[in-house]
Amino acid sequence: MSIKQKIQELVTRMARLHAGGGEKAVEKQVASGKLTARDRIRTLLDPESFHEYDLFVEHKSRDFGMAGKELPGDGVITGTGTISGFPVCVYAQDFTVAGGSLGLAHARKITKIMDHALKLGVPLIGINDSGGARIQEGVNSLAGYGEIFYRNTLASGVIPQISVILGPCAGGAVYSPALTDFVFVVDQISKMFITGPEVIRTVLGEEISMEELGGARVQAEISGNAHFFAENETQCFEHIKRLIAFIPWNNRKQADAFPPKPPRPDRPVEGIVPPSAHEPFDVRDVIRAVCDDSDFFEVQEHWAANIVVGFARLKGRSVGVVGNQPQVLAGVLDVDAADKAARFIRFCDAFNIPLVTLVDLPGYLPGVDQEHAGVIRHGAKILYAYSEATVPKITVILRKAYGGGYIAMCSRHLGADFVFAWPSAEIAVMGPEGAANIIFRREIAAAADPESMRREKVREYQAKFANPYIAAAEGHVDAVIQPAETREYLIHAIEVSQHKDEVRPRRKHGVPPF
Ligand code: HXC
Repeated sequence: MSIKQKIQELVTRMARLHAGGGEKAVEKQVASGKLTARDRIRTLLDPESFHEYDLFVEHKSRDFGMAGKELPGDGVITGTGTISGFPVCVYAQDFTVAGGSLGLAHARKITKIMDHALKLGVPLIGINDSGGARIQEGVNSLAGYGEIFYRNTLASGVIPQISVILGPCAGGAVYSPALTDFVFVVDQISKMFITGPEVIRTVLGEEISMEELGGARVQAEISGNAHFFAENETQCFEHIKRLIAFIPWNNRKQADAFPPKPPRPDRPVEGIVPPSAHEPFDVRDVIRAVCDDSDFFEVQEHWAANIVVGFARLKGRSVGVVGNQPQVLAGVLDVDAADKAARFIRFCDAFNIPLVTLVDLPGYLPGVDQEHAGVIRHGAKILYAYSEATVPKITVILRKAYGGGYIAMCSRHLGADFVFAWPSAEIAVMGPEGAANIIFRREIAAAADPESMRREKVREYQAKFANPYIAAAEGHVDAVIQPAETREYLIHAIEVSQHKDEVRPRRKHGVPPF
């Protein structure tokens, strides 16, 4: 064979493999509103940047009619590429080939690209669209999953790991995404569950659709398994590109700095927070009023909305922002909010992203439901995450900071480097109403007009404690600042903390309350 013929043979072989499961299967995939695995990679990565490996890998299974069965790429495409010039390792399961099911060869391709990502120190993006463990391969498929989970865990905190759910992700397969840092879902396309509708029907006698059980909205709004929800695949890929720009390649690097931009002038920070501690506001307005270009990229927007977490930039540098959301449940901390914030804080800490915390909350949510749901151990996660974090930690107390909420929201006592308070800050053990009712109970009861005595005592307590100056007098607050000075104070604090180096006691690892 001449070289020309050999090249022609390569081209023919590759074309056959690139066709995946064939025309019919591809038609079915497209008709169900999904892109093919190859188109997904093409849409996500920079043009012409994808380099594929292991296209010629074949399965070796023989049982249940598998002998000699051609499964192009064994149902998964793996390789490297760039996103806005930023290198990534990527795999995409191809549902047109045996339903994207995971056999041994398929799993080995994934674990090989995971090993690459870890060695090269670049993010890993996994696109999941699969019927789960390849039934014909039995325990070998289970072994494959186990080896993926093991690597997800080893890579945790070393390289960013992103999971994109673009089809079914069923059974134990869900646990790779659950071990990664960010899970992206798409309306009507993503389906994640441990046991499917058929098992539920058989075991529990209940009817439920896949969508109701574990569709994209369920994962983004109810379970909290997903971090980003998109209307369609193209929007999902845009979200991934945005995320990648905020985070570093790996835990030894800083996120890329961008040209600084001031916040948009239509968003002045003064006047956002109402003077009455009972009136709500949107903490995202404060974030947008102080960050570059008023550009805030929210994580888990639709779940545990009483706390807001996400990425922004200050003078071009990425920061992770955590803020109580007074317009949802008055911004209280509850089981889910603590869980959401703790995980985000740990991601930022692992990847050298400074933390900015904005405080306005009445405390932890009281009630039997929360106590029985474990608000003690879940609530402890946020204390642990803030205390453990060694990245620069800057806190701004906007208004209420009562009781356990004051401590939990990155107070000085949990190691905040800088704590600033607005003049509207109220830092106390509890709100004035509750406090006055307890400590002046006798005076109120004995008064000729108990209600006016109660109001007087509330005012007395408010005047004495509902301000930032007692905490500032103790040095728990470093500076009382005007709202308009917030951006400048934050930028300065981040600049002077650039070389922060905090040494912790030697240990194998901590034992966080999860
Ligand atoms: C082998 C599979 C497969 C699997 C799908 N296929 N899932 N082959 N092993 N797990 C094949 C189908 O036989 C079919 O092949 C092709 O993929 C497309 O599947 P369809 O059923 O035609 O597609 P659709 O109607 O869209 O339904 C998709 C589906 C369904 C809902 C995912 O295929 C399904 O329920 N699959 C089984 C899901 C499952 O129970 N997986 C095991 C979970 S246990 P042909 O040749 O007909 O085109 C598990 C344990 C992991 O994953 C534990 C890890 C710790």
